[in-house]
Parts: sequence; C-alpha cells; structure tokens
Amino acid sequence: MMFSLVNVNNLSEHTVEVLLRRAQAFKETDYIQPQHGTMVNLFYEASTRTCLSFQMAAYRLGLKVLDFTIENSSTCKGESLLDSLQTVDALGVDIAVVRHSTDWTTLLENNSFNLSFVNGGSGIHQHPTQALLDALTIQQHFGKLRDLKVTIVGDISHSRVARSNAQLLQMMGATVRFAGPSIYQTDEIKNVEWCDFDEVLPDSDVVMMLRVQNERHQTFLKIDSYNRKFGLNGDRLQQMKKEAIVMHPGPVNRNVEITDEVFNDPRCKILQQVQNGVVMRMAVLERCLQGGSNGKLVSA
Ligand code: CP
Repeated sequence: MMFSLVNVNNLSEHTVEVLLRRAQAFKETDYIQPQHGTMVNLFYEASTRTCLSFQMAAYRLGLKVLDFTIENSSTCKGESLLDSLQTVDALGVDIAVVRHSTDWTTLLENNSFNLSFVNGGSGIHQHPTQALLDALTIQQHFGKLRDLKVTIVGDISHSRVARSNAQLLQMMGATVRFAGPSIYQTDEIKNVEWCDFDEVLPDSDVVMMLRVQNERHQTFLKIDSYNRKFGLNGDRLQQMKKEAIVMHPGPVNRNVEITDEVFNDPRCKILQQVQNGVVMRMAVLERCLQGGSNGKLVSA
C-alpha cells in the first residue's frame, strides 16, 4: 500500500513528529543513503519554491525525476487531469507531486492508483508540505510548537497555506489566530479566532504573512495602502517581541505584505523556510517510497 500526502487532516500528530525529526536529520547530515524510484512534478499552476524543492529533494535522495510541462504535454490536446494521472500511473512512476487550481485530490476517491501522490497545492484548499516545512522552521527557532501563538495575516480566504497551517499547528498544540482585511475573512475555516492585527501583534510568537493572491480575486484592494493597514513594516516590527519570528510562504509581493526592511530583519525566516522545504520534502518522498499501512488518502 502506498503512502500519499494530500491533506493535513490525514496526518496524525505522531506522523508529523516523525517527519519533523527526519527532515531535521537530513538537514544535519551530508551523507544520504541513495534510494531508488521515480518522481514527476505535475504542476498545472506556477511555482518556484515547491516545484524546485521537490526536484532538489528527489535529486538529493538519488531519485530519477521525469520532465513534465503543461506546454509540452497532452493537456494542450484536451487531455483531462484524471487521464493524465492514470497515464503517469500506468507508466510506472512511483511518486507524482501535483499542483492544480482545483481540489484535484477528489479524483483519488473513486479511482484506483498504484503510485504515491503528494499534494503540491490544490486551489485554495491544501498545501500540506508547506505546513510541514513551516512547522519545522518554527520548531527550529522555539524548540517546540505547543503553546505558541501564531498569527496568520492577510488573504486568508484564498489561502491553502492558511488552511493547512491552521490545521497542522492546532493539532500540534499551538494557538492560531487570523487577521487581515475583512473581505478576506471566511467562515469556512473552523475554530480559528479572527483578531485585530495590531492588538495581537505584541504577544504573537510567529507572524505569518500571506501573499495577496490577485490571480484568485474577484475584487481588488488598493495595493498602495495595503501595507499601512495590514502589512508588516518597520513600525509594526517594533511592536513584535524580540524573540518572535516573521514568516511568509512566498512568493512575496515586496512592500505589500512586508517591506524590504522586514525582509532584511534577522527575525524574518523566509529563506530558512525555503531551505527547510528541501529537507522536509526529502522526508515526505522517503516516506512515500517506504509505503504505509493506511491506504492511499491516508498519510499516517
Ligand atoms: N510557497 C509556495 O508554494 O511557493 P511557490 O508557489 O513558489 O511554489
């Protein structure tokens, strides 16, 4: 039975702890036991970090990586996503990392596959490896996740990062709060309090800024006043605890969500998040190759 990681909800606390330990071990060693297998990135939405870090992770593990681009694929001839997934399965690929603008993971429910799937981003719904690498970044700084106050700020309603992080961090014992423009509020994410950013900033351990996802919007905010109202800047940086950290999944709209001053502050962990993306994805790919006992949609 193959291990697939498509949704944070399918992860147990134990599996998260195992993946965090394994990713940290990869970070601390230069020697990697070469592994056998094939991986393909099926990215139907743009990506720099996720796509390249899965490739880098696969190369570091010794896996063979297949090429796929939408432009050169039969998607251009009208092939459906399901037909493409079944084709990749029939080719004998071991792991497919999929990013798509829809909740593509529903295709796995009524169809049978032999390969492992990893969700590299499904519309506004899930981005589980982002939540795992974020958890690793937080744990490296604080030595724990439990009892930390994490404030996620910005375009919550369109954010798979907000959804996946809220689920994972709450499961691991952190308190998660949302803040940002009211038009980005959503009732769909349960058990997370909506707060005033400036009120919760001074007692936040982690301030996670989100990209304004203009490509998913029907209504647009004035970008020139966004940073003053909802973004991080030098003034707000001074309101934060000295030991608090700033995170952002990237890509950053510079001087919208965060100013250059914040980006260059030592408390800003954005590039550490990118580094952790490689080792966390190594841990996930390794787990996929090892298999699992709980079925295709289950990751624990
Ligand atoms: N964080 C993230 O998913 O970035 P990319 O879109 O560059 O992969």
